[in-house]
Amino acid sequence: MTFFIHPLSDVQTKTIGDGTKIWQFCVVLPNAKIGDNCNICSHCFIENDVMIGNNVTVKCGVHLWDGTRIEDNVFIGPNVTFCNDRYPKSGNKNFLCEPVVVKKGASIGANATLLPGVVIGENALVAAGAVVTKNVEANTVFKGKNNV
Ligand SMILES: CC(C)(COP(=O)(O)OP(=O)(O)OC[C@H]1O[C@@H](n2cnc3c(N)ncnc32)[C@H](O)[C@@H]1OP(=O)(O)O)[C@@H](O)C(=O)NCCC(=O)NCCS
Repeated sequence: MTFFIHPLSDVQTKTIGDGTKIWQFCVVLPNAKIGDNCNICSHCFIENDVMIGNNVTVKCGVHLWDGTRIEDNVFIGPNVTFCNDRYPKSGNKNFLCEPVVVKKGASIGANATLLPGVVIGENALVAAGAVVTKNVEANTVFKGKNNV
């Protein structure tokens, strides 16, 4: 395997595919799985139960929480926010994980927010800044409630 991990990152997983690059100030926990030819830009956090396919681009400042699934050829813009907890509460002992799934070839615009449990369909495009509260159909553009 030939992949690149920048020395200023903290990458604990061993499951990283060929050709993948992980840049400065990323933190990746030990059970995360990252495929081939991915580009994980600086200042990203990837939790344990996270699977990223092949040829995925994750721009700066993205945090991928437990349960998140990112399929092949997905683009995630800078500062996209993923959620997995619908009713967050500090110290909550009844946390119900509702992960986000981004299907093959989808693109998520900068600073969009993906609410818990949504599925972004294949080749869909989510507009920058959109708040996604429901599934997005494959091959559609979702512009969000405030900019339709
Ligand atoms: C607000 C919230 C608690 C509502 O959850 P809910 O009661 O299950 O509500 P639903 O998902 O059934 O949505 C009800 C309506 O509110 C809308 N809605 C839900 N969350 C919204 C949000 N964040 N912004 C705008 N609209 C929202 C839904 O689209 C739906 O609209 P509709 O009636 O026109 O179909 C939840 O969506 C939320 O934002 N939780 C916070 C998530 C978070 O930030 N977690 C921390 C990080 S993991």
